[in-house]
Amino acid sequence: MYLVLMGLPGAGKGTQAERIVEKYGIPHISTGDMFRAAIKEETPLGLEAKSYMDAGNLVPDEVTIGIVRDRLSKKDCEKGFLLDGFPRTVAQAEALEEITKELGRTIDYVLNISVDSDQLMQRLTGRRICQTCGSTYHVIFNPPKVEGVCDKDGGTLIQRQDDNEETVRNRLDVNMKQAKPLLDFYGEKGYLKNVNGDQDIDKVFQDIDQLIGGLA
Ligand code: AP5
Ligand code: ZN
Repeated sequence: MYLVLMGLPGAGKGTQAERIVEKYGIPHISTGDMFRAAIKEETPLGLEAKSYMDAGNLVPDEVTIGIVRDRLSKKDCEKGFLLDGFPRTVAQAEALEEITKELGRTIDYVLNISVDSDQLMQRLTGRRICQTCGSTYHVIFNPPKVEGVCDKDGGTLIQRQDDNEETVRNRLDVNMKQAKPLLDFYGEKGYLKNVNGDQDIDKVFQDIDQLIGGLA
């Protein structure tokens, strides 16, 4: 299955992606995670992406499209993939059409997780990430059993650098501007499936599972 997960920052893309890839065994391709890994390793890509991410702006299309093109060409993407956070602009969506065509694949669904925008600030400022395995928690909505410690591996939970209030505000503004044309693009193609993200995490997953279960 070839899937795209869309939604504003904090909609729950990463949280649902963890569950989808665990159940369906397809690679999770998150452009945000790829940029964060590059920043950690201080590669040229990381150095370029860092200033955009710290400000909550989008990394330029040509850079982002390039890393997705390379990643989707890898062998583990032949039978399926889950794109998370890409595409985010119409230019990226057009490039994805081209890349999948070259590779002889078709996107099955674009799952758009929609959440009331008032919720997003609270979700993002309360998010905590495991430093070891990258699992996502929330201090109120999805707390670990022991405060500050990952349930899976005992790793330390930290806050993402771009999850402070000021940067979140800019991320929301930037992404809201891009969302409408992107939804129109996929609506016209007929790939779009809306998912109600204003429900608890398990219920959102149940809805997604029901939509994609037939593809497996
Ligand atoms: P990226 O890492 O993709 O960040 P984002 O899009 O801002 O999305 P988030 O990861 O913040 O949110 P999410 O939807 O995954 O929410 P989560 O599941 O964690 O991108 C970071 C940056 O990289 C961008 O700003 C940009 O600079 C750059 N970038 C990345 N892709 C790019 C692209 N294509 N083009 C250009 N630049 C790009 O959930 C959030 C919190 O809410 C968690 O704490 C979670 O526990 C909680 N939660 C989740 N679901 C629920 C629920 N149902 N109920 C209650 N709480 C919930
Ligand atoms: Zn962990």
